[in-house]
Amino acid sequence: MRNRLFSIKPMSALREDSQESEHSLKRTLGPVDLTLLGIGAIIGAGLFVRTAAAAAEHAGPAVTISYIVAAIGCAFAGLCYAEFASSIPVAGSAYTYSYATLGEFVAWIIGWDLILEYAFGAATVAIAWSEYLNKLLHHWGWQIPYQFSHSPFEISPDGISGIANLPALVILFLVTLLLIRGTQESAVVNGIIVMIKVSIVLLFIGFGWSYINPMNHTPMVPEPSVITSHLGTEVHFGGLLGILGGAGVVFFAFIGFDAVSTAAQEAKNPARDMPIGILASLAVCTVLYILFSYVLTGIAPYTDFRVAGKEASVAYAIMNFMPGFEPLALLITIAILAGFSSVILVMLLGQTRVFFSMSRDGLVPKIFSDLHPRFRTPYQSNLVFFAFVGLFAGFIPGSVAGDMTSIGTLFAFVLVCAGVWIMRVKNPEMPRGFRTPMVPLIPILGMLVCAAMIFGLGLENWLRLGVWLLIGFVIYFSYSIKHSRLNQ
Ligand code: ALA
Repeated sequence: MRNRLFSIKPMSALREDSQESEHSLKRTLGPVDLTLLGIGAIIGAGLFVRTAAAAAEHAGPAVTISYIVAAIGCAFAGLCYAEFASSIPVAGSAYTYSYATLGEFVAWIIGWDLILEYAFGAATVAIAWSEYLNKLLHHWGWQIPYQFSHSPFEISPDGISGIANLPALVILFLVTLLLIRGTQESAVVNGIIVMIKVSIVLLFIGFGWSYINPMNHTPMVPEPSVITSHLGTEVHFGGLLGILGGAGVVFFAFIGFDAVSTAAQEAKNPARDMPIGILASLAVCTVLYILFSYVLTGIAPYTDFRVAGKEASVAYAIMNFMPGFEPLALLITIAILAGFSSVILVMLLGQTRVFFSMSRDGLVPKIFSDLHPRFRTPYQSNLVFFAFVGLFAGFIPGSVAGDMTSIGTLFAFVLVCAGVWIMRVKNPEMPRGFRTPMVPLIPILGMLVCAAMIFGLGLENWLRLGVWLLIGFVIYFSYSIKHSRLNQ
């Protein structure tokens, strides 16, 4: 049994998996496509929704510092990801890497954990999409009733309880259809959306800068206190704990650079292009985020984001504090809707690719790797995940889905950092297209910073992660271990 749990997938088998055949994914993506894929996945609800939430309930204006902390953690983890992605160029990201290094059981844990990142991530962004859609409709005098645009766990200020988030389900369905159609087409759509998204962020920073009210930034780090969150739980606000909690929340905004690695099998030259895609997209976004969060918390007082400005916060800030820029709010809202779609696209793509690899290894059923005869996409997997993600997007609040995404991803990052280090010790000769500098220092720092953010996310989220992993163990021991191709 012990041997089984720690059986390692041989490199030769991994390389074989990555050879092209009619049963494999098509290799169509170059370095620019990959960087755009990264930015497409990165800039989204984290920036446009969770920034305000982190300021309101954790860090105040120090959310800018939270962004710096999160960026440091991501940079360390990104350097580790890049080494893995350049040496093991097969679909499946952290899951595949750990199968080759840490053994099947850890690989399973990571694969299972990545569902939190990609599936819950897609759900979170779909929920945010629904918020901004309502904002847009509101502009034209329409409104989707509260009941049909919120989960049953949410209650409006006038006491109306949500039933299901229908717009979130609609956008998930549309993106699923696009994905079934094919990756290359999806990459073109993604490229256009990324351009729009980056322009909007730059416009907001550029025009918003002169509306910063220094009062809103004073004090930059609020005094530590305990406040009640919008879900009725107690959270630490201000001080160091507030900054860490905020970092755990806005960490969500960086998620996605690692999604680039899930597309390794579709990259033309993965050894060179994967690290470029991962690190370039991360660098661009870090600069934009720090500036953006500084401007947003400078324009509107963070306390506003607890009440009126809680939803669609960027549009709120413009409408209320930047007179004359109402058309910009409209433009931004439309761009955000398009931008969120590309995030959902990459998240769902990542999710199905991880399960594609897991299915080929026998750890999950075969339908997750069956390809469409013409489109060569895992269409059944796409449909199953539409149903699964839809369940969360339709029926739980965005903040819960968002924190689950953050904690799951942080946990995966810790394991990836450990994996790079272990691999250097165990297999120093392996050819690596890119080498993480200063091993083991960088992996250790990566683990520490990510662990600190996990700590900042609080007890409730640790418990949720624990329950999720427990479910994963049950499935592994009742199904996967018996069907594993490696173990047969
Ligand atoms: N980083 C992605 C976003 O913020 C998941 O939407």
